[in-house]
Amino acid sequence: MIRKTLFFVLITVVPFWYGCSPKLEMAPGNLPEDWKSKNIPPSQQSGPGDPERGFAYMKSGEYIASGVPWEMMKKKVNKRRDSLTEIEVEPGYFLNYKISLFKAPNGEKVVSGNCFTCHGTTFNGKLHYGLGDTFYDFTKSQKAPAHILNTLVKLKYNKKKPERAAFEDFGNYYKALAPKITTPVFGVNPAFRLAEACVQHRNPVDLTYEKADRFEMMKYTMATDVPPLWNVKKKNALYYNAMGRGDFTKLLMQSVLLGLPDSTMARKVQQEFIHVLAWLESLEPPRYPKTINRPLSLKGKVLFEKHCKDCHGTYGKNESYPNKVIALPVIKTDPWYAWYAKDYGGFNKWYNQSWFAVSAPVSKNVPLEGYIAPPLDGIWASAPYLHNGSVPTLNALLNSNERPEFWQRSGKTDDYDFENLGWRFKSKKNAAGKFVYDTTLPGYGNQGHTYGDKFGDEERKALIEYLKTL
Ligand code: HEC
Ligand code: HEC
Repeated sequence: MIRKTLFFVLITVVPFWYGCSPKLEMAPGNLPEDWKSKNIPPSQQSGPGDPERGFAYMKSGEYIASGVPWEMMKKKVNKRRDSLTEIEVEPGYFLNYKISLFKAPNGEKVVSGNCFTCHGTTFNGKLHYGLGDTFYDFTKSQKAPAHILNTLVKLKYNKKKPERAAFEDFGNYYKALAPKITTPVFGVNPAFRLAEACVQHRNPVDLTYEKADRFEMMKYTMATDVPPLWNVKKKNALYYNAMGRGDFTKLLMQSVLLGLPDSTMARKVQQEFIHVLAWLESLEPPRYPKTINRPLSLKGKVLFEKHCKDCHGTYGKNESYPNKVIALPVIKTDPWYAWYAKDYGGFNKWYNQSWFAVSAPVSKNVPLEGYIAPPLDGIWASAPYLHNGSVPTLNALLNSNERPEFWQRSGKTDDYDFENLGWRFKSKKNAAGKFVYDTTLPGYGNQGHTYGDKFGDEERKALIEYLKTL
């Protein structure tokens, strides 16, 4: 059934969108047709902030502002700490680190997800804040859970109850976004669709909820890998196509659109996000935990500095990072994310005339038809690869013949391959089964970036050995 529907989307709907999608006006900073690459310059940032305060705020701050009444949840949560993933949120009450307990603006205690719902994971026996969770399953529809949750809260609390008011925004946005974030493959994250579905129902000036849609959303869910957060300190622009320009504190607030009531609260959150940004900039990548063959890695370094550094920069003593965006016809990786951001999604148009872009400090989304060559710090740990997470290992990234068309992970979060660097996988004949990544779908292709193909096996081994040291 799913395959049938997708086939229909592929054959009829996608070309239709492409053919008649309204071309947006060229945003300032966009480039003429024949550009090949562009280095993004730095922009003024808010700060300085206090990293510890930022980290504490990310874990238990009120930035989502609305959520499920604590009273409803309290009976069901753990009374003792079962694992390294649990945090004591009140004396004798433990919640998974992906969920926060905080006060809504009316003083009611509520719980909802936080940044680490997507940006935290257990890996190699440790909890890593800042490493993307690639096991969150967005292939399951959220429609029924959203509906059930709304009904339960409404049955338990009548309209006059403060718990109901503290849930209202979260309930509305959750219901609105639920049908729009179901992904066709496992292991990817629809964060930008989630933000788009929320702003579809937000007034751009005061950021309040509106029942009516402001624009139409594509019926097909594009999604991406979750980037590791330790690279933020090197970046002059955020997101895979470097569209996030200007003030980072504002850009980071896209994920609070799920519950934030209005621009008054947004201003308070933005002030705290100065500290969140300081925490992000203090993050370091994890070190490769096994033995590295130093002579081999030095050979790899020579190859890297000859073939890769113009785009990805240099590492070690003379560190540099060019913040270079490579145009689609040059990089040749799946174009859909870049196209979506530029021409199809309603998010950027909304954003660039909203509170985020109009009030100081100013931020903007300037989508380019290309992808930024990311810093490769800690790259050994952040599989799968490419913006859409379509390639399971670094070995396959550097040898396009080795890239599987359909691949499946075991579903175990510790099934990592420390030699090929990435997730252990099985190649499959088709997309049937759980945890399968189907690279034949629009937005999920594994083509392009063939810069590693010219190497022999020994050279590739050396390059991988070097990448372990970053
Ligand atoms: C629903 C999952 C989800 C949540 C919740 C979430 N993020 Fe993200 N985040 C993502 C994904 C996916 C991307 C990549 C999006 C893109 O480039 O289009 C991303 C991108 C980013 C980036 C840009 C990184 C880069 O290298 O360009 C930063 C910084 C970031 N998130 C910080 C945060 C913070 C801080 C929070 C909490 C306030 C947060 N995120 C909440 C999924 C999430
Ligand atoms: C012309 C510029 C360019 C060159 C040369 C280049 N890359 Fe890249 N690289 C990119 C871009 C752009 C991306 C992001 C593409 C995407 O996500 O669709 C990327 C992505 C990657 C990634 C995946 C990053 C991630 O987080 O998923 C790795 C690893 C990588 N490159 C390694 C290398 C190595 C090693 C070399 C040298 C053999 C190299 N690249 C040469 C531009 C380049």
